[in-house]
Amino acid sequence: MTHTYLDNAATTPMDPAVIAVMTEQMQQNFGNASNIHYFGRQARQVLDASRKTLAESINAHEDELVFTSGGTESDNTAIMQTALQRQNLGHHIITTAIEHEAILKPLQFLETQGFEVTYLPVDQRGLISMADFKAALREDTILVSIMTGNNEVGSHMPIHEIGTLLAQHQAWFHTDAVQAYGLLDIDVQRDHIDLLSVSAHKLNGPKFLGFLYRRQGINFPSLIKGGDQEDKRRAGTENIPAIAGFAKAVELATPAEKAARQKKYAGFKQQLLAGLTANGIDFAVNGQLDANNLQHVLNIWIKGISTYVLQMNLDLAGFAISGGSACTAGSLEPSHVLMAMYGKDSPRVEESIRISFGKDNTAADIDNFVAALTAIVKRVKQTAKI
Ligand SMILES: Cc1ncc(COP(=O)(O)O)c(C=O)c1O
Repeated sequence: MTHTYLDNAATTPMDPAVIAVMTEQMQQNFGNASNIHYFGRQARQVLDASRKTLAESINAHEDELVFTSGGTESDNTAIMQTALQRQNLGHHIITTAIEHEAILKPLQFLETQGFEVTYLPVDQRGLISMADFKAALREDTILVSIMTGNNEVGSHMPIHEIGTLLAQHQAWFHTDAVQAYGLLDIDVQRDHIDLLSVSAHKLNGPKFLGFLYRRQGINFPSLIKGGDQEDKRRAGTENIPAIAGFAKAVELATPAEKAARQKKYAGFKQQLLAGLTANGIDFAVNGQLDANNLQHVLNIWIKGISTYVLQMNLDLAGFAISGGSACTAGSLEPSHVLMAMYGKDSPRVEESIRISFGKDNTAADIDNFVAALTAIVKRVKQTAKI
């Protein structure tokens, strides 16, 4: 049986060029970048060059990038350390109801420590309203954390508008760009972003690696305490081969390549939806089809069949897709994103799947997926006499 991977919002396979760079680095460059001897200097050179490549990819300066163990650590650092650093200026934080758990969990913890968090609601497109945002903003707001693009439905938040508005406010603006980074043009200066989280494994780079962009002038203590690495901003010996691989993955994701990926995935969406419609499947898209969205994510409600049944049968047929978000997919927790969009009692919460495309997927994969899903839906409905 062939296995087709359609869960690229969870993680992506490493690009062969990334593996080649990492392999070479592992063989030839094992030094510790903190050492001043030859081996340390060799490692430092790769670290500096990689940091420069990554900084340029978001129009930042290399001093503004701190390597982390991934999106989760970048998000946790931005939230926890901003609260710690700025509690004398206020205790209010704004976020959205559909952030990733790496944002929501630290915020829930801060609520137990006396901070007040406003969770902006979203509409059925998975978007916040600027009116709600303006109404929520207070003099004592110290941090606004709003994701660039959502990992379950692909909605693309009005980052530029939010950043522009906050440029005149004391609150720091953090955005989780983990899903968006490999597909959209990110520019921290244009969008007045103070803090930004990225993860390497979402764009064909290695796992357990990311960075946190911190605008020049933002200084908070490291969440991870220990050695003086990363200019005392993140302790722990840097993983040079992985960092070199990350930079390679980003070099490959040129602006033209990102635009091409968006176009290709938008085509896959149309093909998949047209296929299901032609086969008479009773379904609806969760969120909206919008050219501005992250095109790699497609979330659909298959009316009358549970997420679990769909996921299991698709797996047996050789197709990997997700139920909820990447990190809760295995736990079968109902999706907090779909609940925020449609209400907790909506059948969509229990009967939806997320399909997410990657650069290795082909039109044939989509056709095969449509055929498999159609067969499953017909079989399950016939058995259950729905
Ligand atoms: C939007 C978003 N933020 C954060 C994360 C966590 O990133 P990482 O897996 O690198 O810790 C993910 C991963 O699924 C994500 O989709």
